[in-house]
Amino acid sequence: MPDNPLDVFVSGANFAASKRFSRGKMNQRRVLLAVTGGIAAYKAPELVRALTRAGCVVRCAMTPAAHEFVTPLVLQTLSGESVVTELFDLTQESEIGHIALADWAELLIVAPATANTIAKLAHGLADDPVSTLALATRAPILLAPAMNVNMWRHAATQQNLEVLRARGVRCIGPDSGELACGWDGEGRMSDPVAIADAAALALGSEGLAGEVVLVTAGGTREALDAVRYLGNRSSGKMGFAIAREAARRGAEVILVAGPSAVETPSGVRRVDVESASEMRDAVFSELDRATIVVKAAAVADFRPAEASPRKIKKEDLPAGRGVTLELVQNADILAEVCRAKGDRIVVGFAAESHDLVEAARRKLARKGCDLMVANDITRQGAGFDADDNVVVFVWPAGEIEELPPMSKSDVAAQLLDRMEKLRAGKG
Ligand code: CTP
Repeated sequence: MPDNPLDVFVSGANFAASKRFSRGKMNQRRVLLAVTGGIAAYKAPELVRALTRAGCVVRCAMTPAAHEFVTPLVLQTLSGESVVTELFDLTQESEIGHIALADWAELLIVAPATANTIAKLAHGLADDPVSTLALATRAPILLAPAMNVNMWRHAATQQNLEVLRARGVRCIGPDSGELACGWDGEGRMSDPVAIADAAALALGSEGLAGEVVLVTAGGTREALDAVRYLGNRSSGKMGFAIAREAARRGAEVILVAGPSAVETPSGVRRVDVESASEMRDAVFSELDRATIVVKAAAVADFRPAEASPRKIKKEDLPAGRGVTLELVQNADILAEVCRAKGDRIVVGFAAESHDLVEAARRKLARKGCDLMVANDITRQGAGFDADDNVVVFVWPAGEIEELPPMSKSDVAAQLLDRMEKLRAGKG
C-alpha cells in the first residue's frame, strides 16, 4: 500500500492492487458523490455503480460545469436518488436541504476533482453545490483529482492539496497516461473501482467499536529553566494518524500528546502534556479503561536534574567555561504500562538509526509489549516530521513484517488491522 492521511495520498494503481476491501463491505454506508466539471465526469456513472455494488447508498451532487459532461438523469437513474444540481433550489431544499445532505453523508467523494474545485476547497469557498457541501460536512473527504498535467503540477494546485491534506482530506490519484487534452502525464482520474476501494478505506470499518484506544504522540520537553528545554524532533504525525484511524474504526480514542502542531482528529479526546513525567501521569490516569495502548511518542529518557524556575543568565555561570548538565533518568512509561498490562494490547515504537530489527527485538523483549513498530529514522522521506514512514512490525515470537514505504495514515491503517485481528484472536 502506498501512502497518503488522509493522512494520505494514495496512488490509484496501488490502491487497486492492494484490494484490501472486497465488494459488499460498505453495506448501507452513506456516500455523497460530488461531481465537478472535468472530462472525467463521464466516469462518474461508473463510480456510482462501483459504490452501489459495494453496498453503499449513494447520493450525488454536481457543479453546473459538470452538467456539460454527464447528465443528472444518468446519476439519478443509477443511484436511485435525486441529484443536487443547484445551490438554491426550492424543490431540492424541501426534499433534502444541502445541510441535511452534508450531515447525512458518512463520506464525501469529489470525483473528478478539478483544479478549480480543489482551490475552492482549500480556501473554504462555497459558491456551488459541491464546494458548499464540502464546507458543511463533517464527514471525511476523498478527492479523485483529474486535470491537465500542467494544471496538476502547478504550484498553486500542489499547495492547495497540501493544505487539504494537512486537514485530513484524502486524495486518490491522479494516474498517469494519455490525457483527454492531448498531453501525456499525471492527470487521469483513478479507475472508479480503485476509488471505491479508497472509499472503503476512508470510511473505515467498525472493527474497533467497543475498544478504548490510548495513543501517545509527539515528543516531550524537559525543562531546563523558565525558557529552555531539552526536546526531540518528533512531530506527532504518526501518533495522530493512529488516533484518527482508530476513531474512524469506531474506537473511543484518548490521545496523550506532547507539544504538536498537528490538528486534533475529530472524535478524539486529546490530553496535552509537556514533559515525560506529565505524559506518564496522563497515561496512568487514563490506563484503567484502555483496552489498546499505542505508544508512538518519542519520550525523553533523561531530564535535567534541576529545572530553574527562572531564566538562567550567563552571568550566573562560570565565565569563559563550558557548562555540564546533570541529567537524571525518566521512567520508562511503556515498560511500566506493560507491567500493568492485563488483557490490554500494548504496542511500542522503536525509532532506530542502525540495527533496526535487532534493536527493536531487544526493546520488545525488555519492555514486554505485544508488538514493536520499528522505523529507520535515517530513511529519506520517512521518520521524524515526514508524512511517510517505512516500518517493520516486530512480533514477540520473532516474526517480522517489512512494510513498503507508505503514508503515516496507511501505516496507522496497517497497524490497526493487526490490532483488530489480535483482538478477534483473543476472543
Ligand atoms: N518509551 C516510553 N518511556 C520512555 C522512553 C520510551 O514509554 N521513557 C517508549 C516510546 O514511547 C516507544 C518505546 O518506548 O514506544 C521505545 O522508545 P525508544 O526511545 O525508541 O526506546 P528507548 O527505550 O528510549 O531506548 P533508546 O532510546 O536507548 O533507543
